[in-house]
Amino acid sequence: MSVIYSGECAQFQLNTKSFTYLMQVRNDYLLHLYWGEKLDERDHSYMFWEQGRAAFSPRQENCEGFILDDIPLEYPCWGRGDMRTPAIEIINPDGSNIIDLHYESHDVISGKPELKGLPAVYAEKSDEAETLIITLKDSVSKITVKLYYTLFEALDILCRHAEIINDSDKSVFINRAMSASVDFDRKDFDIISNYGTHCRERNIERSPLKYGRFNMSSRRGASSHVHNPFLIMTSPSANETSGDTYGFVLVYSGSFTAEVAANQFSSARTIIGLNSEEFGWKLHSGESFTTPEAVLSYSPCGLESLSANYHGIFRTRLCRGKYRDTRRPVLLNSWEACYFSFDEERLKKIGTCCKDIGIELLVIDDGWFGVRDTDNCSLGDWVVDRRKLPNGIEGIYNHLKPLGIDLGIWFEPEMVSPNSDLYRAHPDWCIHIPNRPRSQGRHQFMLNLSKPEVCDYIYESVAAILKSGMIKYVKWDYNRNMTEIANEKLPADQQREVTHRYYLGLYSLLERLVTTFPDILFESCSGGGGRFDAGMLYYMPQVWTSDNSDAIERLKIQYGTSLVYPLSSMSAHVSASPNHQTGHVTPFDTRFTVALTGSFGYELDPTSLSDEDKASVLRTAGIYKEYGERICNGTYHRLRNPHEENCSAWCIVSENKDTCIAGYVLTKVRMYENNERIRLRGLKKDWIYIERFSGREYSGAELCGYGIPAPLTLEYQSLLWIFERKE
Ligand code: DGJ
Repeated sequence: MSVIYSGECAQFQLNTKSFTYLMQVRNDYLLHLYWGEKLDERDHSYMFWEQGRAAFSPRQENCEGFILDDIPLEYPCWGRGDMRTPAIEIINPDGSNIIDLHYESHDVISGKPELKGLPAVYAEKSDEAETLIITLKDSVSKITVKLYYTLFEALDILCRHAEIINDSDKSVFINRAMSASVDFDRKDFDIISNYGTHCRERNIERSPLKYGRFNMSSRRGASSHVHNPFLIMTSPSANETSGDTYGFVLVYSGSFTAEVAANQFSSARTIIGLNSEEFGWKLHSGESFTTPEAVLSYSPCGLESLSANYHGIFRTRLCRGKYRDTRRPVLLNSWEACYFSFDEERLKKIGTCCKDIGIELLVIDDGWFGVRDTDNCSLGDWVVDRRKLPNGIEGIYNHLKPLGIDLGIWFEPEMVSPNSDLYRAHPDWCIHIPNRPRSQGRHQFMLNLSKPEVCDYIYESVAAILKSGMIKYVKWDYNRNMTEIANEKLPADQQREVTHRYYLGLYSLLERLVTTFPDILFESCSGGGGRFDAGMLYYMPQVWTSDNSDAIERLKIQYGTSLVYPLSSMSAHVSASPNHQTGHVTPFDTRFTVALTGSFGYELDPTSLSDEDKASVLRTAGIYKEYGERICNGTYHRLRNPHEENCSAWCIVSENKDTCIAGYVLTKVRMYENNERIRLRGLKKDWIYIERFSGREYSGAELCGYGIPAPLTLEYQSLLWIFERKE
């Protein structure tokens, strides 16, 4: 049992394999007592002591109740004396901005309920998860809040969300509704987050928490390249293998906020949820509102083990579909091979070449529809361009089929070009404010997915291509952020609902598509990693990690992404050298070694490769086919940090520990400094492993204790080792 309720002390003890999360009801308030290393089952009431500080902060009920500003609250409200960042803010029918939630009841159920219309972690069997639902009520406004806590005991995961119900006979406005809030009794934490931009996504920032607020958010209508919807808190000395680490990840693809505030008494409050700078929701009488889900985890053993918790839950209980547990097909994507310049003949030549070099799937990227010779037209017109493909998609399919190569295709369905038949027919379908200019990003507008008729159009036009059965893979792109946000069909006081309604529309559209076409592998993309988030992973098990396909740059991007997202979700391709984005010239094997840590493919024109490079593609595609499944389901160990050193190293250990794939890349010259060795992790110390390429034998103890020599001196050189257990 993960949820233990003690009526005597009104205490909720939530246990996983490694942590305990503790709450208690006092004076009808739901308090947070503790989150950290696993505790024994007993009355832990002593952990709450009211310190009676907070001059100027009012005390409840005739000076006898709590000073709310100075106690750890589980779902803090605005308006009754807690001056810190609230989890919830409600505007009542009389205009007052107050809500005061008190404990009403609770319930424990096995399994995990779905979040209606929203992506969420799921339980495959009812006994692998247990859910506590705590009901809180404001008796004056008649607003009920149900807090959901689902524990995946074996995976060290706690999923949270809130449901807000209006039991009154009037409408109220939700100004803020966080998915989770946690109060800590101290502020001595480091905060780790991602920052970046297009082609430089998910760099890592680590900084000590200071008084005031650390806020990381997006108001772009997408989770964005700039920040990512998660944050990690650690003890100041924590590293990859030791120390307290706390994770908060939002399962959402739109604007978000994640914040830690250190307050006057040196305690800290962390919140994560919808970004209330742009969000608002009118909750009519009798209606309810469900927040997105926050996935929390804790490890006392450092970042690597926190990441492993997230990799485990996201890979096996967030991603879905037939590709969830398997290696993905080795694909070749046409974008960096041809950009918009292709026709049937060129694609056929590429397809023929693919057969000889071990490629399993050819993706036709942007440019196959409308009259799209550049990026300034045709989005929305999902009809084959017969100038380029006179025999339609079928012409390519019929060529590839006898070669045993599958076909994939690119869409950017959420967008419309001003120069398109769709826009000419429905100028009101894009997101806009009547009488204001419409901003363009990459010469395009965004379709307004808060309108059901727009979602229906997208479904029909994408499904029309997919239902031929010729397509096995879809790359779903998204290349601008939202401006002039409105939906003229909603009343003025509901305009702040539009971005969230957009995502509800997108999620329901994606659900329709992935359930109608369960055999298609969907890959999410947003100019690379502009929407690399747990929300999209529910529908699409992999994401084009970055438009920067340079292996050296990818070291940092993939390292940062691995903090919470599994390797199987990171689409990684071997691209041409010199690289198209950076001009870096890198050896083929370095590009391969880096791409091998993700869902693997190629991003180059195979017809222009030398015979030597073609042989390299064939050889490396073979290695991925052999080890892809073990990589996809293995445990990832970050051994050298490219954000801090002039190198990167990692290893991936298969579930049964009998295979280990290790990589090392030097990013700067190191003259005569070739005494580097890489100590591996995760192997069985008393097993003997044979390294595939050299045939040498090592014990697990040697590989983890002494390590493996990496005597490189020249930049962009790399080493790849594959160790297999000796039978
Ligand atoms: C942005 C994507 O990230 C690229 O891979 C490519 O698909 C282009 N869009 C096509 O326009």
